[in-house]
Amino acid sequence: MPDKARVGVLISGRGSNMAALLYASRADDCAYEIVLVASNNPDAPGLDLARAEGVRTFARAHRGIDRAAFDDLIHAELDRAGVTHVALAGYMRLLSPAFVAKWQGRMVNIHPSLLPLHKGLHVHEGVLAAGETVSGCTVHLVTAKLDDGPALGQTRVAVLPGDTPDSLAARILIAEHQLYPRVLAQLVTAETAPEAILARVRTLALALPEAEEKLSHGAPGFFVRGGKFFGYFSYDHHHDGVTGLLVKASGVEEQAMLIESDPDLYYRPAYLGPSGWIGIRLDTGTIDWTHIEGWLTRSWRASAPKRLAILPF
Ligand code: GRF
Repeated sequence: MPDKARVGVLISGRGSNMAALLYASRADDCAYEIVLVASNNPDAPGLDLARAEGVRTFARAHRGIDRAAFDDLIHAELDRAGVTHVALAGYMRLLSPAFVAKWQGRMVNIHPSLLPLHKGLHVHEGVLAAGETVSGCTVHLVTAKLDDGPALGQTRVAVLPGDTPDSLAARILIAEHQLYPRVLAQLVTAETAPEAILARVRTLALALPEAEEKLSHGAPGFFVRGGKFFGYFSYDHHHDGVTGLLVKASGVEEQAMLIESDPDLYYRPAYLGPSGWIGIRLDTGTIDWTHIEGWLTRSWRASAPKRLAILPF
């Protein structure tokens, strides 16, 4: 099993969704763990709970600090804790575009309505005023627009006759606590599925000039038209349980050096090893995609016919 995703939760208050995420993560087979709870409100009750449960916390009042600078502080804390994914749980601060961009695709939020209905505040009042008979909650990826972004999961909750905003909110909260851990786990699991990793490798590889794909001994291989293969995606290829990318290093010396410098990341591939190829693991839980892109480009250059390899990119 790959390493668990490392989740940082941002809260401003009660933190009951954070607690739901945390207790769900205590199951051995949960795909994520909570490594940091951070807040823009040092008095947030949720912080006490996180501390009592032995989870690292960070709190700083945002007053007097401009938005971008405050988000930089939070980002630095998330980095320090090795966070891979961010879950907003009642975080009552708009986020700066730069922060949102840094966590794109890896930051989720929960909202107590069936989005795109009833964005923003005073959700339950709006639902009751509109006479709706069904409301619910939504977990969605965070984008630059408030309560926007693709929905990853929703739960419908019936509106009862005589409901007040509080009674409706309380029932929806129960649904939130069930939905959030499930959707977060699905998100981090889907990302580490070999199919998702291959799709991303493929996008990077085929973006290189005249790159094409074909199966080579059962493994997806990427080659330059009129040139040679520059990458192979290996998924349990030799029944070794390893998901990795094989690219061309400069030779066996560099290969040995790489493996020595980072034995958890690099490995000597079974058949291509003697020709100086290097294996880069893609199943460590966190993938540095810029690094992967760099290797693919380098390997492409080494394999492309001369007329292409001089292209400036
Ligand atoms: C929840 O209703 C959530 O949907 C909304 O804010 C509330 C936070 O509650 N975004 P809690 O702090 O998780 O208890």
